[in-house]
Amino acid sequence: MRAATARAYPNIALVKYWGKRDAAWNLPATGSLSLTLDVFPTTTTVEPDPTLTADVFTLDGVAAPAPALERVRRFLDLVRERAGTDTAARVRSVNTVPTGAGLASSASGFAALAVAASAAYDLDLERPGLSRLARRGSGSAARSLVDGMALWHAGTDEESFAEPVASPEVAMVVTVLEAGPKPVSSREAMTRTALTSPYYRAWVESASQSLQAALSACRDGDLDRLGRIAESNALRMHAAIEASDPPVRYLRPGSIAVFDRVEQLREEGLCAYATADAGPNVVVICPPSEAEAVRTALAPFGTTVTAGPGPGAALIAEPVG
Ligand code: PMV
Repeated sequence: MRAATARAYPNIALVKYWGKRDAAWNLPATGSLSLTLDVFPTTTTVEPDPTLTADVFTLDGVAAPAPALERVRRFLDLVRERAGTDTAARVRSVNTVPTGAGLASSASGFAALAVAASAAYDLDLERPGLSRLARRGSGSAARSLVDGMALWHAGTDEESFAEPVASPEVAMVVTVLEAGPKPVSSREAMTRTALTSPYYRAWVESASQSLQAALSACRDGDLDRLGRIAESNALRMHAAIEASDPPVRYLRPGSIAVFDRVEQLREEGLCAYATADAGPNVVVICPPSEAEAVRTALAPFGTTVTAGPGPGAALIAEPVG
């Protein structure tokens, strides 16, 4: 065993994962498609230490809150079980994505943790194995193991990993409206949607169809079609979530204003489509050549950052201090 450090980037889903077929194994009800970004990385060092009596987890230099420590501990237990050891670890993580704001910090977080922990505990895993492992921490983390466009398969534990797919050239303009924590965690809201939303079954059916259509648009290199599918898929997910009891609403007035502005941009001739995960922030998909025009148009709504396709989670040399 040794200290190991990994860096992972968030991913934004174009066809969303929302609902589990099996909660214990974190198997999704449907497959999903995402783009790994080249901004907002999480860097994590895992240092097994036989003198520790329990795992220690610091996030951005301070002791992580109990629920976050508990999630990390349960994840490390999976790694330790495979490694045949009960040695605790010191985990240090630095997050540059606003935590809990619906910008997939759990995806970059668990992807980095999976890569660092499996190296630290000497698990010999290839990319699909790492993607399956990351999935156990947070479903969407399975996709942050992949460079650029990632398809995460539904199915059994063995089948449910992410792999790269060909993609048209694409940029994403991230509009951060509120960087505060979300009112209901995606984990909780996902369960609530499945149990109480009358639209859940329709969502699952439509997401499977959207995935096939999106993959076909990717194969054809057709960003306009891919964007249209992504925007309607996002709004369908939010409709299903909002119809839960008690209701959950992630989109804020500012989010809706960005969707409206993006519609206008299309009328003005740009190829721009909006999506949003479990939070108020909106991400706009466009060709790289139009990213600056889109960013300028969205600047009045919040903090805007232009991203391109980023690398899958990987080991790096410098540890988190
Ligand atoms: O991985 P989780 O449990 O944080 O769920 C992520 C869900 C969405 O971000 C809303 C959609 C997705 O596919 O990433």
